[in-house]
Amino acid sequence: MTAARVKLVEVGPRDGLQNEPARLTVAERCALIERLAEAGFSSIEAGAFVSPDKVPQMADTAAVLAGLKLDSPIGYPVLVPNERGLDAALAAGAREIAVFAAASDTFSQRNIGADVDASLKRYEAVVRRALDAGLLVRGYVSCVAGCPYEGPIAPERVEEVAGALWEMGCDEISLGDTIGVATPNTVLAMLDAVADRVPVAQLAGHFHDTYGMASANVYAAWRAGVMTFDCSVAGLGGCPYARGATGNVASEDLVWLFKGLGVETGVDLARLVEVAHWISQRLGRAPASRVAHALAPH
Ligand code: HMG
Ligand code: MG
Repeated sequence: MTAARVKLVEVGPRDGLQNEPARLTVAERCALIERLAEAGFSSIEAGAFVSPDKVPQMADTAAVLAGLKLDSPIGYPVLVPNERGLDAALAAGAREIAVFAAASDTFSQRNIGADVDASLKRYEAVVRRALDAGLLVRGYVSCVAGCPYEGPIAPERVEEVAGALWEMGCDEISLGDTIGVATPNTVLAMLDAVADRVPVAQLAGHFHDTYGMASANVYAAWRAGVMTFDCSVAGLGGCPYARGATGNVASEDLVWLFKGLGVETGVDLARLVEVAHWISQRLGRAPASRVAHALAPH
């Protein structure tokens, strides 16, 4: 069953900015998030409570949250790698967090300083405390198709990690093709395995566009029943711990795709394209998406 309405989670202000060489001010990060909210996104990843030495672009996430209307119906999830991150998120008034595990030990070790099993143990306490505090919790699994260090990843390994996060109580599991190596057949095989442990309606697709396959992968996942997709305005993004990874699928591409399919996203394409050009200009780059170029304001 395909969904007539999908939820797009805009991750540009986190996944996008974390890998841009230019550092935005807190006011600029807030302005980006506000413009994306005005374009119609109901969920916008606002930042990360991680080590500022590791990801300096995400420093001052507490100040970003302080500049947002956190009691609005829009969700502003923030990444949390450990209990210290959770403490900071709670103190900043976050109502939604995302923990981030991986299906590859090497990637996990380099990204968060712990192998997969150790990270899941760490997340048990984080998720329990977050749920007790009434927060919504997303669980990410990275490297669902391939790892920059270990190569192809077996669907069964993704199933184990996604299942563990789901059984901890995560509300939604976002499946990350961190380095964009998936193609529709590998996406379907991976989803088939994960669906043994997690209801498909609670899964999200998070496809990086390194090889230009992200839209095809979204389409395949949507046909398989997935209803939530992560995307990044102007295709900003990547991952500092995944060499060669480029941005997420551009939000404009997904809004265009779903518009063509007659599927509601709630996002105004013209306004989104304006945001794509505005943020790209500020970052000194061109939007990565063809849709942003095709619909460029004159
Ligand atoms: P560590 O070095 O393994 O552990 O870091 P540590 O406990 O020894 O901490 C090191 C330093 O970080 C210490 O500071 C801690 O105090 C500090 P120092 O004593 O050296 O001055 N620290 C913190 N600072 C701020 N906030 C915290 C925090 N915790 C410890 N919460 C840690 C472990 C997880 C903190 C570190 O490895 C880290 O911050 N990693 C960043 C990971 C990251 O943000 N990666 C990018 C996001 S994931 C992604 O992009 C994938 C995704 O998009 C899905 C996909 O595409 O696949 C989600
Ligand atoms: Mg990502």
